[in-house]
Amino acid sequence: MKKILITGGAGFIGSHVVRRFVTTYPEYHIFNLDALTYAGNLENLRDIENSANYTFVKGDIVDAAFLGELFSEHDFYGVIHLAAESHVDRSITDPMAFVMTNVIGTANLLNAAKKSWKDNLEEHLFYHVSTDEVYGELHDPNEFFLETTKYDPRSPYSASKASSDHLVRAYHNTYKMPAVISNCSNNYGPNHFPEKLIPLMINNILNDKPLPVYGKGENIRDWLFVEDHARAIDVIFHKGANGETYNIGGHNEWKNIDLVKLLCKIMDEKLDRPEGTSDRLIHYVTDRAGHDLRYAIDATKLKTELGWVPSLQFAEGLEKTVNWYLANQGWLDNITSGAYSHYYEEMYDGR
Ligand code: NAD
Ligand code: DAU
Repeated sequence: MKKILITGGAGFIGSHVVRRFVTTYPEYHIFNLDALTYAGNLENLRDIENSANYTFVKGDIVDAAFLGELFSEHDFYGVIHLAAESHVDRSITDPMAFVMTNVIGTANLLNAAKKSWKDNLEEHLFYHVSTDEVYGELHDPNEFFLETTKYDPRSPYSASKASSDHLVRAYHNTYKMPAVISNCSNNYGPNHFPEKLIPLMINNILNDKPLPVYGKGENIRDWLFVEDHARAIDVIFHKGANGETYNIGGHNEWKNIDLVKLLCKIMDEKLDRPEGTSDRLIHYVTDRAGHDLRYAIDATKLKTELGWVPSLQFAEGLEKTVNWYLANQGWLDNITSGAYSHYYEEMYDGR
């Protein structure tokens, strides 16, 4: 059985990647390494936590000694690295947390893998999951981010992710570490932490709270359903060429204000409220510092070389997402009350 280490598997995207690998590949044993920060939630994986080919490991990638022990205990065939501080607003108030996890943590993971794999490096793979934000922002509506677009990170979050991408490429070039990187656009879907735009709006509409739209709401994001991202990661892990980078995106651009209004409409219908009820909750608030105007991915390389295309139209993906939040209000309540952080202790006490 090949052992695969997935980091950040208790988070939003990581939990979908872990589920996909555990259920699709019984020939792999999946180790989910996660520090269970505020964003990590083992409830996301309740349905697969007892699978024979799954093991959860609580640990921090900033702790190099811990990683050294983990890699000497297990001969991992591959690493799929998602663990990160991921919220731009938090990076503005606490940049060092992003430097520690995203930069130092990635360097620690690369070092642990390099040391453990030194005798047969070429038989292993380090897959680094990154973001389109490393490319900066776009102004010309006809321009898209390509794999060759020059890096121009503009927030502490995107700068820390860009640093981690550079480290992975440096280890590939210098030490011949087999590596692939992907840079994806904005994800949405079930289990998305309610500090991010779509789940925050859903949660606030449900609770009749103001909907904070930054600036004039004219910033544009390119939205991709999270399971399509997980499928792209699967394809790249298995078929991606060593040393290559792949952009992943939905070709699905929305101005924030249009998206928020669409969510209001969908929620009013679902909640049987008169049309316009949720629109009245919209509040324009002070803009995010350094707010990137537009992100848009050109994913042609992934399509032509590896055959991946998004499977869901946005309307279908949003419908699934809203239905999931309506059916899982306990998940939201646990997070907003802070109760979910005790889940680990309850589940693993005494094991
Ligand atoms: P998330 O914040 O939901 O989850 C991050 C996970 O990492 C959490 O489970 C957290 O506990 C864990 N973690 C954080 N610090 C850790 C540490 N020091 N050691 C071990 N575990 C730690 O993030 P997400 O939105 O699921 O993003 C996952 C990855 O995908 C990140 O690398 C992010 O940069 C990238 N990404 C995200 C998006 C998006 O739209 N959310 C798009 C492109 C790329
Ligand atoms: O592009 C990929 C990135 O997408 C990922 O790398 C990040 O981890 C992920 O968090 C996301 O970053 P964004 O900053 O684009 O996502 P967020 O949901 O925070 O914001 C989306 C847009 O909505 C952005 O233009 C800011 C705006 N916004 C956000 C919040 C939370 C609001 O107008 N109001 C809000 O309350």
